[in-house]
Amino acid sequence: MTDPAERAAELRGRINHHNHAYYVLDRPEVSDEEYDGLFRELQAIERAHPDLATPDSPTQRVGAPPSEKFEEHRHLHAMLSLDNVSGSDELRAFHDKLLRHVRLPPDTEVEYQGEPKFDGLSLSLTYADGVLEAAATRGDGEVGEDVTPNARTIRSVPLRLREEATGTIEVRGEVILDHAEFARMNELRRAAGEHEYANPRNAAAGSVRQLDSKVTASRRLTFWAWGMGETGSLRFQTQRGISEWLRSAGFRVSEHTKALHGIEACLAYADEWGARRGDLPYDIDGLVFKANVLQLQEQLGYTSRGPRWAVAYKFAAEQAQTKLLAIRWQVGRTGVVTPVAELEPVRVGGVTVSRATLHNVDDMKRKDVRVGDTVTVHRAGEVIPEIVAPVEDSGHARRSKPRAPGTCPDCKTPLVREQDEVALRCPNRTCPAQTAERIAHFVARNAMDIEGLGEKQVLRFLEEGFIEDISDIYTLKEKKEALIALEGMGEQSVENLVEAIDASKGRPLNRFLFALGIRQVGQTAAFTLAQTFASLKRVRGASYEELLDVEDIGPHTADEIVAFFQDPENIELIDSLLERGVEPQWDAPPLEESPFSGKTLVFTGKLERIGREEAEELVRRLGGKAAGSVSSNTDLVVAGPGAASKLAKAGQLGVTVISEDEFFRMLPEGTV
Ligand code: IVH
Repeated sequence: MTDPAERAAELRGRINHHNHAYYVLDRPEVSDEEYDGLFRELQAIERAHPDLATPDSPTQRVGAPPSEKFEEHRHLHAMLSLDNVSGSDELRAFHDKLLRHVRLPPDTEVEYQGEPKFDGLSLSLTYADGVLEAAATRGDGEVGEDVTPNARTIRSVPLRLREEATGTIEVRGEVILDHAEFARMNELRRAAGEHEYANPRNAAAGSVRQLDSKVTASRRLTFWAWGMGETGSLRFQTQRGISEWLRSAGFRVSEHTKALHGIEACLAYADEWGARRGDLPYDIDGLVFKANVLQLQEQLGYTSRGPRWAVAYKFAAEQAQTKLLAIRWQVGRTGVVTPVAELEPVRVGGVTVSRATLHNVDDMKRKDVRVGDTVTVHRAGEVIPEIVAPVEDSGHARRSKPRAPGTCPDCKTPLVREQDEVALRCPNRTCPAQTAERIAHFVARNAMDIEGLGEKQVLRFLEEGFIEDISDIYTLKEKKEALIALEGMGEQSVENLVEAIDASKGRPLNRFLFALGIRQVGQTAAFTLAQTFASLKRVRGASYEELLDVEDIGPHTADEIVAFFQDPENIELIDSLLERGVEPQWDAPPLEESPFSGKTLVFTGKLERIGREEAEELVRRLGGKAAGSVSSNTDLVVAGPGAASKLAKAGQLGVTVISEDEFFRMLPEGTV
C-alpha cells in the first residue's frame, strides 16, 4: 500500500499543476471529472490524517470560517502609488523629467516596459520559502488589511511557487473580475434582490474585503501580478526579468506587456491600446510605463508618493459632462451659419474643450439642448468636439428652446435656407465674417500656404482696413511702413510676411483652385481639375459637359464649378489676383508614370520623413487619391508608428499595408 503522506504529496503536485494549467495558462489538460477525482482523494486522505494537511494544499482554497475583523498586515516594502499622466504631451513631459533627473541628454532612448493598468484592487502576497503566507490589501501603503483566507480562494494565486525562492518575498498585483464574471455575479445579486455592483472594480474590491471567505470563494476573481516588493534572495536586472520570473513562478502576467525602446514607442503603444482596450475581456483604466533597467530605477528613486521610474498613463475619457453656457451662431466662408455651443471648460479626449459643434439647426432641434442644460460632450481622436445630448434634469423643461436667427449674426442680412439643404446661409458675399473665413481658408497651410498669416492676423488686417478681400493680400507689400507701425509687428516679421506672400504667387494650380473655396471642391477634386485641364484658363473655361467627363466630378460639383466661374464677383477676384502677380503653376507628371495612378491610399500613424498633408499631395500629384478612412475602396494603407484602428480595419478588409519607407521606395525617381 502506498504511504498516505507520499500519495498526498503526489496529489497536491498534480492538482497544483492542473490548477496552473486551468487558471493561469487557460489550457486545461484534464476533464473536470478527472480533476474532481484527484481533489476528493486528497480531501479524504487529509480528513483521515489531519496532520498531513499543509497550508499550501489545494484543499485549503475553499474558504475559512468567517472572522470578526481584518487583522493588520505591515508590508515589508511600502506599496506606493503612481503619478498619472494623460495624453501624449504629459507622457513626453514625464520622460523629459526622468532624463533631467539623472542628467541624461534629452534625446536618450530609455528602455521602458509598457503594461496594461488593471482596474481592480491591489494585493500584496507574501511567500515564505515559496509558500503563501499572507495576503494584504494596500491600506495606507505601509499597513494593509490581512485578507489571507480570501486570497487563498483565488485560483490564480499560487499557494506554492513553481520556482525556488528562499526567504520572504512579496508579489504585487491586482485582483480583478472580468466582464463575464461581473455580469454573472450581478445577475445572481439581482435575482436575490441584492444591490448590484456599479462596476467590476467595486465588485472585485467588495469580494476581496469579505469577512467570510466563502463569499470570496464564490466569486471567480483573477490575480494579475505586476511587480514585487521584497525580493528576498532573488536578484533581478530588469523589470522584464521580474515579469518573466513571476510568470514562471506560476502567476498570470499580462501577455500584452511589451518592451518599448524610447518614448515614441511608448506613445505608439498608448495609441494602440487607446483603440484596443475595448477588446479585452476585463477593464483596464490605462497603462503603466516603467523604466526597464533596475539600475536606472534605483538611480531615479522615489518621491513620497511613488517611483520616479514609472507612470500611470490614463486613457482620456471620450465623453464628459458640462454646462451649456450659450449658443453662438458662426458664419463660415461659404456663408453657412452653424450653431456652436459655448461650454463651461471641461477635459475630454485629452484636451480642454470650451466649444462644441451642434452641426446645424435640425440637429440642434433634434437633440433639444437648451442654454443652462448640463450636456454630454464627445471628443475622440482628432475630431471636432460635439454635443451628444442634454443630461436629463428637472430644469430642462423650464428652459427656453434656442431659436435659429432670422438674420446674419454679423451683417444682419436675412438668412436663406436653400432647397434640399439643412444649412442656413448668409447670402451677402461681402459679409465681414464670411470674408474673414474666406481669406483664412485661402492662406491656410493646405491652400496657398502663406506662413505668418493666420486667422488672428487676417482678422486684424481686416479690422484695421489693410485688406477688404482676398486679392488685397497681394497689395500688403505696398503698405509695409504702416504694417511695421502696428503694435507687435516689427520690421522682420513684416519682411517675412511679404516674402511668404510673394512665394505663394507661384503655388501649384490645385492649391490655388482649392484655395478659392469653390463649393464641393475639396483637395482631391481640385487636384483632378488641375490634372485634367492643366491651366487656370482651361479650368475657368470648362463647360458643364467637359466637367462631367472628369472622373469623380458629378453633376452637383460640375454645377457649382460652372456657377463659381460665371459669378461676376469671382471673375473680378480671379482677374485681380492674376493682375497682382498670382500665377498658378502646373507641371505634374503624366498619370501613367506613377504606381499610384487610380489608386486610393490612406495614411495612418505618424510619418517620420514627410508631413501627412505633403504625402497626400504627393499621391494626388501622382494620379492617386488620398482618403481619410479605410474602406473596401482602399488600395494601400501607409502605416507609421502609432497606427491603430485604421490598421486593424485594413487587416480585416485584407488591404495591403506598407511602411513609410516602402512608400518612398515606390515613388518614381526624382519625385522628391
Ligand atoms: S506598478 C510603486 N503596474 O495602479 C507602484 N501598478 O495607480 C508600482 N496597477 O497601486 C505600481 N496595474 O494597484 C503597476 N501593471 C501595473 C498595474 C498597476 C494596476 C495599480 C496598482 C497601483 C496603482 C497605481
